[in-house]
Amino acid sequence: MAAVFAAMWFKGSGRNPSLGPEGPPSPRGEGRNINGEAVKDEIAKVRAELEARLAQVLDAAALEAARVEFLGRTGGKVQALMDRLGKLSKEEKPAAGKAVNELKAFVTALLAAAKERVAALEQAKPAVRPDVTLPGRRPRTGRLHPITQARNEMVEIFSQLGFAVAEGPEIEDDWHNFVALNIPPEHPARDPLDNYYIRDNLLLRTQTSTVQIRVMEQTPPPVRVIMPGRVYRPDTVDAGHSNMFHQLEGLWVEEGVTFAHLKSVLAMFVEAFFGAGTKTRFRPSFFPFTEPSAEVDLSCLLCGGQGCAACKRTGWMEILGCGLVDPAVLKGVGYDPEAVTGFAFGFGIERAAMLKYGVRDIRLFYENELRFLEQF
Ligand code: DAH
Repeated sequence: MAAVFAAMWFKGSGRNPSLGPEGPPSPRGEGRNINGEAVKDEIAKVRAELEARLAQVLDAAALEAARVEFLGRTGGKVQALMDRLGKLSKEEKPAAGKAVNELKAFVTALLAAAKERVAALEQAKPAVRPDVTLPGRRPRTGRLHPITQARNEMVEIFSQLGFAVAEGPEIEDDWHNFVALNIPPEHPARDPLDNYYIRDNLLLRTQTSTVQIRVMEQTPPPVRVIMPGRVYRPDTVDAGHSNMFHQLEGLWVEEGVTFAHLKSVLAMFVEAFFGAGTKTRFRPSFFPFTEPSAEVDLSCLLCGGQGCAACKRTGWMEILGCGLVDPAVLKGVGYDPEAVTGFAFGFGIERAAMLKYGVRDIRLFYENELRFLEQF
C-alpha cells in the first residue's frame, strides 16, 4: 500500500504540465514549490514513523497513544498536514490534498490492523496473573503398596539369615501344584470347586509351595530360599479372605537340617518382623508335603493376647504352616532323603501385614483407597 501511495503522489506532483514551458520548478527553488515538496517529505516521514511506532505497540494503551499522536484532531500528525494544505498554491493543492487523504486512509487502516493484533494478544493473556509469591504445590509422589513393603521387609530379614529369593509361574501344572507336593489325585484340595482350573492339567496356583518343587528340580542341595508370590483360591471374599493373595514360602534343604533349625529361623523372623517379644506357639498339624507338620501361632498383636474379634477371643493368631520336608517330596525331585533333610514353611503376606499394622479387613489392600494406602 505504501509503495502505491508514493507512486501516486509522484505522478500528481512537480511534473504537472500546467506549470508551463519553463518546466517543473527546481526542488529547492522558489517558495511556492517548497511547500509541496515539504508536504511530500513529511508524508513519507509520517508513514515511516507510524510503521515503526506500531511495531512497538503491544497493548490497548499504547495503541490509543499512537492513535492520538497520528489521527488526533488537535496536534495529530495527519491533521497537521491537513492544516498545511491551506498554504499551498492552487496548482499544488489538489494533488497534495489527495495524498494527505490517502495518508489518512493508510494511517486508519494500519491502526485498525494494529487494534486487531492487540485484541488477539490480550485474549491470549491469562485472565488472572499467577501469584509467584505463593508457596509451590507439592507433587504427589507415589509409594510402595503396603503388601510390597511387607514383602520387601520379609525378604530383607530372610536374606540376613542366608536365604536367596526365587519365583515361579502363577499358572501351574498339576505336577507342581499337587503331585510333586505329595497331594494324591483323590485329595479334596484338588476339587474343582477349590481351584481355578484353566484346563485339566493347568490351574492358577493355590500355594507358593509349587516353587519349592521348581527350585529343587533345578538346583542340587543345599538350597536355602524364600519364594514370595501371588496365589489364587475361589474363596468367598470377606474381611479375612480374598480370592487372590500373596504368600511367602521358605525352604531349607541341606545335610543335617532339623526341626530345631525350623523353630529358630521362624522365631528369629517373627521377632524381627513383628517386634521383639512376640510369642510363637507350635501346634501339631498335617500337610501332605511335610512330616512332621506344624502350625505356628503368634500372640495376637491387635489385643496383646487378651482375646478379641480378630483372634476369635483366643489371644493367638494362626500365622503359618511348616514342617520337615516329606522324604517322598525329596525323592520326587531327585534328592536323596538319606543324605539331606529340610524344612519348609509358608504363610500369607496379607495376614502377616494385617497383624503387624493392625488392619482388620483384607479387602482394604485391594481397593486402591488412597486414604488407606497413604498411611503406609
Ligand atoms: N502351602 C500351605 C498353604 O497354602 C502352607 C504351607 C504349609 C507351606 C506347610 C509349607 C509348609 O511350605 O511346609 O496353606
